[in-house]
Amino acid sequence: MGMTIAIDGPAASGKGTVSRAIAAHYGFAHLDTGLLYRAVGRRLLDGQDPVEAARTLDAGELDEDALRTPDVAQAASKVAAIPEVRQALLDFQRAFAARAGGAVLDGRDIGTVICPEAEVKLFVTASAEIRAKRRHAELVDKGMDIDFATVLADVEQRDARDMTRADAPLRPADDAVLIDTSVMSIAQAVAAARAEVDARSGG
Ligand code: DC
Repeated sequence: MGMTIAIDGPAASGKGTVSRAIAAHYGFAHLDTGLLYRAVGRRLLDGQDPVEAARTLDAGELDEDALRTPDVAQAASKVAAIPEVRQALLDFQRAFAARAGGAVLDGRDIGTVICPEAEVKLFVTASAEIRAKRRHAELVDKGMDIDFATVLADVEQRDARDMTRADAPLRPADDAVLIDTSVMSIAQAVAAARAEVDARSGG
């Protein structure tokens, strides 16, 4: 079965956690597309041209730990507004989605642009305060010395940039199912996502 599941949403909404759990449960491959933009953002911080970086990106650069920092996140959001960067990353994402055996892709434009034909589309969201709280706890856990206000400002700034860019802005696809994780546990959010997948694949 070659089902494609598109999971979009703003920064720190829980979409990554839900995506990993769904992929593991159904035995599907998972691509965190934010890592592609983060890898290009990393290269921008290193002084490279972002379009060139996107065109020459190597899967070996997608090192989660190194790319999960606030400065890389901001750089990712900036390069993500460049149409040539998005275009350069398109084929890789579409090829991943088309692989046999099923795929889960999470990002900002999966249901709207990358995989408009996806069998299941979810839009995972939560209030900015709650998302910033989760991201802050994550960063502190990693040993980073950063205050909550900085994380909240970072999340709000990225949301605004990601939602207002002209090319593939962050928005739910018309046929996406909304999952607001503000008052949900991880288990509840995953259960809601699984219910959607089961409904689409069983019926
Ligand atoms: O999901 P994330 O926080 O790792 O994403 C980092 C940035 O990359 C995000 O602020 C916007 C951009 N992005 C995008 O424009 N489109 C995607 N499909 C995924 C991420």
